[in-house]
Amino acid sequence: MVRVRAVLVGLGHRTACYASYALQHPDEMEVVGLADPDGDRLANFAEKYNIPSDKCFSSSQELAAIPRFGDIAINGTMDEAHVETTIPLVEAGYHVLLEKPIAPNSSELNLLDAAVTKAGVKVVICHVLRYAPFYNAIQQRIVAGDIGEIIHIHSTENVSYHHMAVAFVRGKWNRREVNPIMLAKCCHDLDLICWFNSGIKPTKISSMGGRHFFTTKNAPEGAGENCFDCEIERDCQYSAKRHYIDNDWWSFYALAGEKNYEQGEENDTKSSAIHIAATDYGRCVWHSENDVADRQSVIIEFENGSIASHDLVSNSSRATRRLQIVGTKGEIFGDMTSGQFTLWKPAATDGKEYTQEVVDTGVSEDMHGGGDLRLVQDFLSLVRGEQPSLATTSLSDSLNSHRIAYAADISMQESRIVDFDDI
Ligand SMILES: NC(=O)c1ccc[n+]([C@@H]2O[C@H](COP(=O)([O-])OP(=O)(O)OC[C@H]3O[C@@H](n4cnc5c(N)ncnc54)[C@H](O)[C@@H]3O)[C@@H](O)[C@H]2O)c1
Repeated sequence: MVRVRAVLVGLGHRTACYASYALQHPDEMEVVGLADPDGDRLANFAEKYNIPSDKCFSSSQELAAIPRFGDIAINGTMDEAHVETTIPLVEAGYHVLLEKPIAPNSSELNLLDAAVTKAGVKVVICHVLRYAPFYNAIQQRIVAGDIGEIIHIHSTENVSYHHMAVAFVRGKWNRREVNPIMLAKCCHDLDLICWFNSGIKPTKISSMGGRHFFTTKNAPEGAGENCFDCEIERDCQYSAKRHYIDNDWWSFYALAGEKNYEQGEENDTKSSAIHIAATDYGRCVWHSENDVADRQSVIIEFENGSIASHDLVSNSSRATRRLQIVGTKGEIFGDMTSGQFTLWKPAATDGKEYTQEVVDTGVSEDMHGGGDLRLVQDFLSLVRGEQPSLATTSLSDSLNSHRIAYAADISMQESRIVDFDDI
């Protein structure tokens, strides 16, 4: 098998996850270059992947400015840097595995699309859920015609109270102007909807939502501005101390930038607390600078009359995604976390109301239902020129879902139905 040479751009936790494929499958992928303005991250990755200093760069742009020395780039920079960091890579001839969302607005989306078309390279967006066995198996049944033509899709993403707090209240995705939540959190679900409805154009989008819970007016009596200086902290379900230190939830966000943590060394509770207390991750959820919606629903009409709706539900106790797809010949209903879905079909002609088949795709430990490294494997096989899988995407496959997210934000803000063609 041809070994694919990868350069890594944006050395955060997502890139670390995808890059680990090279450690597990050194015969398939080799890391040959790195780019990140953060010198500590650069040094840690260089040591881990044995990269010489002349192949370590302080930005994607700098790496792309020298003659191409890899086959692919894995771009895990933050959302707002995706387009400016990817264009130089595609112009230099790299195939790119790019984190979602592609771009914060349609003008940047179009800019990247034009650059990719001109360069003739492959750009795949990290729609990891397509690779989760749960969603992959559902799509196989749709493609096989098991439920006929799709009439209605209803999906729900239940974001847990602690995930909501770390990412969308205290964290990096808490500003609507840069990261509207339907784009930042649900572009996967919108991608799945467009995938299930492959080849059918969306026509109208309507959305409602807002921020009504994680606001200052809901702060309980005694709540401090910071969890590390708060008299009711021990009784609070959103305590940063409980989440990031006692329970070790989401420490890769809360401890990002902490020296020991970045170097993969054990960290004592005291230095973790000092670090977190000084960052936004220590802030009270009722006194943070968030302005993204903490609930949002979107309805999409497609040109064949099918309807899809998606609910972003936050503050859920248990995180999961749920899905119901009703077609002309049957229906699928499932819960991603359980890994199970049920396929019902009308059965009046057999004297029954319906038939039922339960499909168990297995429970996965990771938050993307086992999709992360399967995506890397599929991207490598695409670059090697092998047969694309059912889940493989090109950049153009990902444009509709992003445009729906932009339209949903406009619809929510302006209380109106948005025509897809106006986006
Ligand atoms: N696929 C998924 O399900 C999923 C899940 C979580 C996050 N994400 C997305 O993954 C992306 C990365 O998230 P993260 O938390 O790993 O990010 P991060 O903040 O940990 O890492 C981003 C890195 O990019 C570097 N960077 C900034 N500008 C750069 C430039 N010009 N050239 C090279 N590097 C540059 C930063 O220094 C930083 O180290 C985000 O877009 C996020 O939305 C996707």
